[in-house]
Amino acid sequence: MSLHEMRKSYSMAGLTKSDVDADPVVQFQRWFKEAQQPDLPDWVEVNAMTLATADPQGKVTSRIVLLKGIEGGRFCFYSNYESEKGQQIAANPHVSLCFFWGHLQRQVRIEGSAKLSDRNKSVDYFHSRPRESQLGAYVSQQSSVIDSRQLLQEKYTELESEYHQQEIPCPDQWGGYEVEPTRFEFWQGRPGRLHDRVCYRRDRELWTLSRLSP
Ligand SMILES: Cc1cc2nc3c(=O)[nH]c(=O)nc-3n(C[C@H](O)[C@H](O)[C@H](O)COP(=O)(O)O)c2cc1C
Repeated sequence: MSLHEMRKSYSMAGLTKSDVDADPVVQFQRWFKEAQQPDLPDWVEVNAMTLATADPQGKVTSRIVLLKGIEGGRFCFYSNYESEKGQQIAANPHVSLCFFWGHLQRQVRIEGSAKLSDRNKSVDYFHSRPRESQLGAYVSQQSSVIDSRQLLQEKYTELESEYHQQEIPCPDQWGGYEVEPTRFEFWQGRPGRLHDRVCYRRDRELWTLSRLSP
């Protein structure tokens, strides 16, 4: 099928301002729960989100990361602080998150400001991960150029024997980020491209709701 011919019609549900909770985090949790359907294929990761970051000159990059918690209304993920995203966030904390739940014909966009998680929380989470993931995080200088995969594997094997039956320390440059949202948008696909979009904007502690044109 050609790209021109690829299109779907969306007709599963609608969304109005009166359908949604006054608190966008509660609304997010409602949709997130609905996205976790038991019969989904194994490869679907409903907590996968596109994270967009930008440097102070406005150069934007995006990639997938996994949502690992929502605490106090903040959205948490883990990464390497010295990676490209880490360097951009250090210089410019404004980020956006985007979830696509195709099986529900839904998208959620979140904008906000990212800060580093509390160190103890990062260390605790690091140690809750499988040992292979801990070693992987230790070995990888994320986003730097490397000569070969073999070098990574050698370093991995070296560390594996160095820390055999010992706790692997959480690398200083690895840990959590918390995104404090200032804007949410809940998008529900509708027929004829007349999609429903409900947007929340934060003004101090208050959220104001509006409907956006598709
Ligand atoms: C499904 C999926 C989940 C991912 N989860 C994470 C994650 O939680 N944290 C992370 O740092 N990278 C994650 N990655 C890798 C990132 O997409 C990216 O390659 C990496 O973080 C380097 O990005 P950067 O060079 O822009 O900093 C994931 C990739 C995929 C496809």
